[in-house]
Amino acid sequence: MKQLEAVIFDLDGVITDSAHFHYLAWKQLAADIDIEIDEAFNETLKGISRMDSLDLILAKGGREKDFTLEQKEELAAKKNAHYVELLKDLSAADILPGIKPLLAAIRAANLKIALASVSKNAPMVLAALGLTDSFDYLADAAKITHSKPDPEIFLVAAAGLGVEPANAVGIEDAQAGVEAIKSAGMKAIGVGTGLVGTDELVSDTSKLTLAMIQKVFQI
Ligand code: G6P
Ligand code: MG
Repeated sequence: MKQLEAVIFDLDGVITDSAHFHYLAWKQLAADIDIEIDEAFNETLKGISRMDSLDLILAKGGREKDFTLEQKEELAAKKNAHYVELLKDLSAADILPGIKPLLAAIRAANLKIALASVSKNAPMVLAALGLTDSFDYLADAAKITHSKPDPEIFLVAAAGLGVEPANAVGIEDAQAGVEAIKSAGMKAIGVGTGLVGTDELVSDTSKLTLAMIQKVFQI
């Protein structure tokens, strides 16, 4: 029987504004190799793994053939070092509006909560926010072979919770993420503007409520 059993969250841009730090770190890395990226291009990187993001940036600059795999790994490590540096002061004060009460309400309703982020930094980010214990399951980005828009990470999150994908709702701020949720067979709530194919779209996280999630599930 169809019944809401779980809510599966993206991390960057949904739980905290780390999406902006990913952008700043990529922008700096790209500038180091004479490629300019802007916020519009950055939208195409959201939900995309570190190496796939680097490939998109190199392609944008027409430099996809200029680096060996080893050099690309160094570039990706450099981006990550910028990113981790930007996160050094991350704390519970950086949890986006409405998220903490939402997580509490979901748990109080006996629903399960998972994280579906392809970021290898996700466990560290959740720990810095003091939210690790609010999640029942974290899908392991290191074991994922396809980034969003592939449904893999959402399917792994649902399986980790022991829940059928059709009994879960996913929450995302990226177009690739919305597509991943829908391909996984879940209802999708989008956060932000310009996302297409969502079952519900809110302008920011303060508008997310359990009642809305329950309503979206019934669509
Ligand atoms: C998320 C973010 C992306 C990021 C990816 C990998 O999907 O939306 O911007 O590139 O995670 O993150 P990582 O921390 O592993 O480099
Ligand atoms: Mg995101």
